Amino acid sequence: MAEREQWGSRAGFVLAAIGSAVGLGNIWRFPYVAYENGGGAFLIPYLFALLTAGIPILIMEFTMGQRFRGSSPLTYARINRKAEWMGWWQIAIAFVISTYYSVIIAWAISYTYFSFSLSWGDNPEGFLFNDFLKVEEGVGYFGSLVPGVLIPLIIVWATTLAILFKGVKKGIELANRILIPTLILMFLCIVIRALTLEGASVGLDAFFRPDWEGLKNPSVWVAAYGHIFFSLSVAFAIMITYSSYLPKKADINNNAFITAFSNSGFEILAGIGVFAVLGFMAVSSGVGIDDVAAGGVGLAFVVFPQIINTFPGFNEFFGFLFFGCLVLAGITSLISIVETYVAGIQDKFNVTRTKAVIVGGGLSALISLVFATQNGVNILDAVDYFINNFGIAVSGLVTVVAMGWVFRKLPEIKDHTNRVSDFKIGSWWTFCLMVVTPIILGIMFVQNLVTNLTSNYGNFDTDFVITFGWSIAVLAIVFGFVISALKWQTGKNQLSVKEI
Ligand code: PHE
Ligand code: NA
Repeated sequence: MAEREQWGSRAGFVLAAIGSAVGLGNIWRFPYVAYENGGGAFLIPYLFALLTAGIPILIMEFTMGQRFRGSSPLTYARINRKAEWMGWWQIAIAFVISTYYSVIIAWAISYTYFSFSLSWGDNPEGFLFNDFLKVEEGVGYFGSLVPGVLIPLIIVWATTLAILFKGVKKGIELANRILIPTLILMFLCIVIRALTLEGASVGLDAFFRPDWEGLKNPSVWVAAYGHIFFSLSVAFAIMITYSSYLPKKADINNNAFITAFSNSGFEILAGIGVFAVLGFMAVSSGVGIDDVAAGGVGLAFVVFPQIINTFPGFNEFFGFLFFGCLVLAGITSLISIVETYVAGIQDKFNVTRTKAVIVGGGLSALISLVFATQNGVNILDAVDYFINNFGIAVSGLVTVVAMGWVFRKLPEIKDHTNRVSDFKIGSWWTFCLMVVTPIILGIMFVQNLVTNLTSNYGNFDTDFVITFGWSIAVLAIVFGFVISALKWQTGKNQLSVKEI
C-alpha cells in the first residue's frame, strides 16, 4: 500500500470541508426551509440542531477519519469488522446523490450561459420545462437525451474527474482554494446588490418575522434536524474521507466549529440575499411575499430568472453571478461526494487513484445520463426525497447508535480529539450523540415512515415511488452488505492497522 495522501495545509483541509458543506442546499434550500418553518423563530431549532447534532457528529466524523485513516468503509472496518457495511451504505448514498447533483449543476451551467442574453424570455417556467428540459407528458418513462443538458453535464464530469485525478493536494485542495474565495466574492456582490433594491426590507421582514407559535410544532424541529444533516454533509462518508487525509496532529474541534459556522454563515447570508430579492419582486409586482417565495428548482430556475428580468440594470451580469454561484457551490460539493467512493474503491480493491476515478466516477457519470432525459426531472425529485429521508437521515441514526451504544467508541473518540485539539469537548458531546440525536432522529424516521406509507410522495404512482424511491433507499443498504462481504485486496492486516 502506498502512503496515504495528505492535505498540504490546515487551511486546505478546512476550505475543502467548507466547499463540501456549502452547496446548492445553502442557496436554494435553507432560505425556504427557514421561511416555511417559522422565519426568525426557526433560528432557535436550527441552532439547537446545529449544536446538538451537526457539530457533535462533525467532530465525531473528523476524529474517526483522522484516527483510523481510511475511507468510510475502511474506517468502520477498523472500528469493528462487522461495521464495514455502514461505510459502503454511506458510499452508496453518496453515489446516488452524485448521479443527480451533477445534473443540477449542469442546468446551472446552461443558465449561466443563458444569462448573457436572458434567453429564458418572459416566461421562464415555460422555458425551463418546454424549451430547456423538453419535458413530455407522462411520468417515469425515459424520454430521449436532451442535448441542452447533456453538453454541460459532460463539462461537469470532465471538470470533476480532472480535479480528482490530480489527487488530494494538487486536485481537491487547489480547486477549493481557488473556487471557494471566488464563490464568496461573487455571492457578496449579489447580496449587497439585493439589499439595496427597493422592497428588500419587505422581504427581510417576512424572512425574519418570528412565528413563536410554530416552535410548538414538532415538525419544525424535525425540519431543522433534516436540514442540518444535509447542509453539513454529515452522516454520508464525506467528512470521514476528507479527514482521513489530515496530518496526525491536526486540531479537530476548532476545524469542526470553523466548518460548521462558515456553512451557517453562508446560508444565513443566502437567506438574506434571497429574501431581499423576493421582497423586491413582490413590491415591484404588487403581490405578497407568499406568492413569490419558493425553494429548490422553482426558486433557482423559475423565480430567479423572472426577477433578473426586472432588475433595474446589469441584468445579464447578475444572472451570470447568481448561476455562477450555483455552479461553484455545486462543483465543490460534487467533488467531495465522488471522492468518497474513489477513496473506498482504492482502499478495498488496492487500485490506483486513476483507476478508482475512472471506474467510480465513470459509472456515476453514465448513470447521471438518466436524469438528463426528458423525464429526468420527476425521477430526480423522487430520488432526492427518498435518499435524503431514508438514506442520509437513517444512516445518521444508525451511525450514532452504533458508535454510541453498540461499539461504545465515543470515549475513545473523545479522548483522541481532546488530545489533538486546543479546546476540549466535555460530556455534553457524549450526551448529545447518545441521547438527544438518536431520539430526534428516531422520531423523524417514524414520522417519515408513516407519512410515506400512508400517501405516495408527490402524488406519484405507487410503481413510480417503489422504483425510484423505496427500492433505491433499500438497495443502498443491500449494497453495503454485498460489498463488505468481498475480500480486502490489500490483505487482512490492513484492517488492524491503527496508526494513532
Ligand atoms: N452540504 C451540501 C449542501 O448544502 C449538500 C451536499 C453536499 C449534498 C455534498 C451532497 C453532497 O448543498
Ligand atoms: Na450546506
